[in-house]
Amino acid sequence: MSGKIGFIPTMGGLHLGHLSLVKKSIQECNHTVVSLFVNNKQFSPDEDFKKYPRDVERDSAALKALSVDVLFLPDGDEIYPKGFSTYVEETRLALGLEGVSRPHFFKGVLTVVLKLFNIVQPDVVYFGKKDIQQLKLVQKMVQDLNLQIKVVPVSTVREEGGLAMSSRNKYLSQEDLSALGIIYSSLEGAQKSVQRGERKSSAIQRGIENALLGVSGIRIDYIEVSDYKTLKKIKTIDRDVIISLAVVLKGVRLIDNIEIKI
Ligand code: PAJ
Repeated sequence: MSGKIGFIPTMGGLHLGHLSLVKKSIQECNHTVVSLFVNNKQFSPDEDFKKYPRDVERDSAALKALSVDVLFLPDGDEIYPKGFSTYVEETRLALGLEGVSRPHFFKGVLTVVLKLFNIVQPDVVYFGKKDIQQLKLVQKMVQDLNLQIKVVPVSTVREEGGLAMSSRNKYLSQEDLSALGIIYSSLEGAQKSVQRGERKSSAIQRGIENALLGVSGIRIDYIEVSDYKTLKKIKTIDRDVIISLAVVLKGVRLIDNIEIKI
């Protein structure tokens, strides 16, 4: 193929969030490749690999409607043949946030992402800010391993009530989804507090926690205020930050974040 190749790796269950990455690639590149591969190496045995939403026909119709050039649908053996034993591991940014609750996760993500990059050979790749730590890890891998690839971050696409779109939202009822609008409004509330001068991370975390606990049955995994660049936890908000959180409702784990520039 001549011209710029844009690439969007996904695990399917496509929604408007994924499609915004695809549309951006179509606008900016000569060819757009989308992969759909539910990567077993980023799920731990107790996670939802088996029941992860799979609907290849629906996904391929959505991509066809956008005139995507190539849909890459590898099977498990193609990506991980028998005897596969080489992994990519990042050892700084991967430790906090999602890395605490899901220690297996980023090793699986980076391994598959590098493999997909090597197979597809893209010039530009698109990653969503919803998964902010994943985005930063991919940027770090590209830098550390000298990959000749441009990584483009794309803003989070949300439901009308504010909940970040996610393939896992399919597991929840309409009432759950609207109650969970509080996730993003609590983050926006935190942003306002910082803009009004609050500088203590603990106060910000407490405010978000109180708002989230209004959803019955919710379990908070973490709420963290981190340095915008390094993702290291900070106590005093004296620079640009990312507030990120993970919650679990009815066994469904949801993450979100907001960037705050001061
Ligand atoms: P998946 O969850 O399918 O997401 C694929 C891409 O879509 C990621 O870059 C993710 O950040 C982006 N995305 C998901 N929801 C979004 C939303 N609401 N708004 C904007 N972008 C959104 O992330 C993965 O798959 C996997 O870990 C993968 C990178 C494919 C490796 O297996």
